[in-house]
Amino acid sequence: MTLYDTVKEVIHSRRSVRRFTEQPVAVEDVKELIDCARYAPSDTNSQTWEFIAVMNRERIRQIEQMTWDALHAKAAEAEKRGLTKEARLLVKSFGPYATAFSDAPVLIIGLATPYTSKFRDRIFDPIQFVPEAVWEEEGIKSSCLALQNLMLAAHARGLATCPMTGPVLLAADAIKSLLDIPPDRQVNMVLSLGYAADTPAKLPRKPVEEILRIIE
Ligand SMILES: Cc1cc2nc3c(=O)[nH]c(=O)nc-3n(C[C@H](O)[C@H](O)[C@H](O)COP(=O)(O)O)c2cc1C
Repeated sequence: MTLYDTVKEVIHSRRSVRRFTEQPVAVEDVKELIDCARYAPSDTNSQTWEFIAVMNRERIRQIEQMTWDALHAKAAEAEKRGLTKEARLLVKSFGPYATAFSDAPVLIIGLATPYTSKFRDRIFDPIQFVPEAVWEEEGIKSSCLALQNLMLAAHARGLATCPMTGPVLLAADAIKSLLDIPPDRQVNMVLSLGYAADTPAKLPRKPVEEILRIIE
């Protein structure tokens, strides 16, 4: 097998896993995965990522509960505005999707730190190169790449993950406060991590011809 074959096999066989066995994950494994995450590329090597590994089931359950609480509050708001069907769907369909980490032994909170660089200090900020919101996204971009590294490394190591923004869209502020995350950190995504209890089907992808435009 060539290096390419191995990489392709890892990429193609990874799945988002939502059911985990009771088997705990070793701290050493988590550190190993973060070592792979941190070798992702980042804008001017700014490394705009940090990770919190929640390895306490009670804490993970608290995050699940906060997600459900926020979801029910949103559903109640929608119901009040007469959006009954949407409110029900939110609870019934999005609820389980946003909380699919509940039996994971580890929840990795993927943070994006503020993007700083010499370019920004010396050139971009003085000339107001782009609006502030663009810089907020800059940290997120590199953080996403690090999380993808982490997921592929976990899979190659026999572990399973699921990337999730459901809990972030619903309960980012509550998560920040529960875990003492400083205000300037953005909660990008959470990843459940553990040993898979099942292997979900390989979901189809759009054909290459549909998503690629070659300009010669
Ligand atoms: C940005 C992002 C957010 C996601 N949020 C959730 C989520 O909240 N809950 C969930 O169960 N899966 C979530 N997923 C996983 C996707 O559902 C999954 O990647 C997709 O269906 C393709 O399946 P696969 O990863 O097994 O190939 C998310 C994935 C991404 C990239």
